[in-house]
Amino acid sequence: MTTIIDCMAVGKSFKGKSAVKDLSFQMKKGEVVALLGPNGAGKSTTIQMLLGLMEPSVGRVTISGQNPKLKAVRERIGVMLQEVRLLDTVTVKEILQLVRGYYPRPLSMEQLTRLTGLDESSLNTRTEKLSGGQKQRVSFALALAGNPDMLFLDEPTTGMDAIARKTFWKSIRELAERGTTIIFTTHYLDEVEVAATRVLMMNHGELIEDATPAMMKKKLGMQRISFLTDAVYRPETYQGLAATDIRIDGKKVTILTGNADHSLKILYALELEISEVTVNRGTLEEAYSQLTDSPEVS
Ligand SMILES: Nc1ncnc2c1ncn2[C@@H]1O[C@H](COP(=O)(O)OP(=O)(O)OP(=O)(O)O)[C@@H](O)[C@H]1O
Ligand SMILES: [Mg+2]
Repeated sequence: MTTIIDCMAVGKSFKGKSAVKDLSFQMKKGEVVALLGPNGAGKSTTIQMLLGLMEPSVGRVTISGQNPKLKAVRERIGVMLQEVRLLDTVTVKEILQLVRGYYPRPLSMEQLTRLTGLDESSLNTRTEKLSGGQKQRVSFALALAGNPDMLFLDEPTTGMDAIARKTFWKSIRELAERGTTIIFTTHYLDEVEVAATRVLMMNHGELIEDATPAMMKKKLGMQRISFLTDAVYRPETYQGLAATDIRIDGKKVTILTGNADHSLKILYALELEISEVTVNRGTLEEAYSQLTDSPEVS
């Protein structure tokens, strides 16, 4: 498979402060990459450099061997940036028609409304009157307007409700099946599993992981056991639980573990006065703190 996106030893500094350091990776046609990392890791900066919207301080980006700023390249890319700004005083339908007009082979309005779940009443609404989640849908529609073969999506689902998110990821999967090359950032682990074929993780501007979602899930597969207790147990009480982190917050105790079955067995064997035991999948934030060795803030 051919390399489409080539990020070569790219770095970016703002006023001498490094935001992205020596970042190199390639993406092949049809890959769906989740770019992960805690706040400030350098994800948005990276996306903007890949798009040619921001000039790298060092290194180089090419898309299909070309400068991403070229019109011929830009026409093939759909973009959702983290901060959505829409043209005011026009309706959604008008702005979509306008943007479709810029492209040689736009998607039809029918395809756009189907893929984004925009209904007739939203289409006739003026953009400044849209809710945050509706704006995200419109932003998605604008990204798709030109029938792109690459999508760059920076936190595309932030502000979307559960239904909008579902429609969004269904459409992303459909586009991926058609061979669209996609890179997206997210803070939701479930979105990685639903959509990505590959995971890149950044921390402090550096690439710290390049893995499949399955490999990542194993690493990030932290589970969270929570329970309530009236007794005042010390953290040492829970030693032997194979916990990677223990938090005690009043009556509530939360234990992070890579093996909940094992930890629960030991926990019950201790015969402590506990109730309301729940087991949940850990969050990405918890996983970051494990991977990056920064202390958990809770
Ligand atoms: N225009 C800018 N001027 C100065 N510093 C910037 C600028 N853009 C980003 N930074 C800094 O670069 C670093 C990386 O920021 P970036 O927005 O790429 O992070 P991110 O991974 O997208 O975070 P988030 O998850 O919060 O969106 C941060 O320390 C940020 O403060
Ligand atoms: Mg960002």
